[in-house]
Amino acid sequence: MMAIAKAIIEPSVKLISGHKLPLVGFGTWKSEPNTVGEAVKAAIRGGCRHIDCAAAYQNEKEVGLALKEMFTTGVVKREELFITSKLYNTCHEKHNVRKHCEITLNHLGLEYLDLYLVHWPVAFEYTGESLDDPMNDDGSAKVINVPLQVTWQEMEALVDDGLTKSIGVSNYNVQTLNDLLTYCRIKPAVNQVELHPYNTQPLLKWYCERNDIHLTAYSPLGSGQLVNDPKVAEIAIKYDRSVSNILCRWAIQHGFSVIPKSVTPSRITENLSIVDFTISDVDMEQLNALNKSLRTCDPADFWGLPMFS
Ligand SMILES: NC(=O)c1ccc[n+]([C@@H]2O[C@H](COP(=O)([O-])OP(=O)(O)OC[C@H]3O[C@@H](n4cnc5c(N)ncnc54)[C@H](OP(=O)(O)O)[C@@H]3O)[C@@H](O)[C@H]2O)c1
Repeated sequence: MMAIAKAIIEPSVKLISGHKLPLVGFGTWKSEPNTVGEAVKAAIRGGCRHIDCAAAYQNEKEVGLALKEMFTTGVVKREELFITSKLYNTCHEKHNVRKHCEITLNHLGLEYLDLYLVHWPVAFEYTGESLDDPMNDDGSAKVINVPLQVTWQEMEALVDDGLTKSIGVSNYNVQTLNDLLTYCRIKPAVNQVELHPYNTQPLLKWYCERNDIHLTAYSPLGSGQLVNDPKVAEIAIKYDRSVSNILCRWAIQHGFSVIPKSVTPSRITENLSIVDFTISDVDMEQLNALNKSLRTCDPADFWGLPMFS
C-alpha cells in the first residue's frame, strides 16, 4: 500500500495557471448512488489525489460526503487533493454560471475547486437544478444561442473571486480552442477530452502542446471497450501488467493526465499502479497505430449533435 501511495502521488504537471495537477486521477461518471462514495474513498486511500467530478453525473453530494469523511478522519487534507468539476450545458447563461458553481461547491462540501471546466462547448435550454437534458421531439437536444465568450467571462470571474483555482474546458476541438484564445483574459489551463489508443487526436495534442493547454484523457479504457483489444493484451503480457495499466500508462507517457473510473475496489487500486514501469517507444507506436478516431462518448448518440469532432 505504501509503495503505491508514494508512487502515484508524485507525477504531476504544472498548469499554465501555476497550480499542480496530479497526472493519475479517478473518474466518477456512471458511478451509481451508494457506490461512488466508497469508490472515491478507496481511490484516496490508495493514494489518488485527483478526483474528477461533474454536476451532470448527479452524484456530487455523495462524493462530498466521502470527501468529508476523508478530511475528518485525517486520511487527507483538502489542500492535498485536486478536485475538478464541470459546468453543465444547461447552465451557460451569464446568470447561471456562478449559481451552479456554488451548487457544486455546496454538494461537494468544498470552499473552492481546483479546476472548473465548461463541460461541452454547447448551450442547452435551462432545466433548473435537475440538469435534465431538454429534448426536442426528434431526439435532439434543445440548443440555445449563448456565446461561449459570455460563459467564459463568468468562468474567469470565478477565478477572480476564489471559487476555483483554475478554469478549463472539455470536449473542445482545435477550432473552438482557437476561438477561445482570441477572447480569453484567463487562458484555459486544461482541455479534458476522450483520449485512448482508438482515439489519439494527434492534431488536438499538437495544438494544446503549442498553447500550454494540458490535456486530460477521459474514458481512457474506452468506457471499458478497450480492455478486450488483442494488441493491447499482447503488450500487457509483455510487461506483465493489466490491459488497463497499459492504457493508462499510454496516456501519461503522452503527457496527458488520466482519470479511469471504477467502482470495483481491486480495479481502483490496479488503475493507480502505473508509474513504476515504462512502455517502450516501439510499443507506444504500436498502441498509437490502433487509432481509428473512435469515440465511445459521442454527443451524436446522446443529443443528436454530430458537431464536435
Ligand atoms: N468531460 C467529459 O465529457 C467526460 C466524458 C466521459 C468521461 N469523463 C470522465 O472520465 C472518467 C472515465 O471515463 P469513463 O467512465 O467513460 O470510462 P473508463 O474509465 O474508460 O472505463 C470505465 C469502465 O471500465 C471498467 N473498468 C475500470 N477499471 C477496469 C479494469 N482495471 N479492468 C477492467 N475494466 C475496468 C469500469 O467498470 P467498474 O466500474 O464496474 O469497475 C467501467 O465499466 C469518467 O468517470 C469521468 O470522470 C468525462
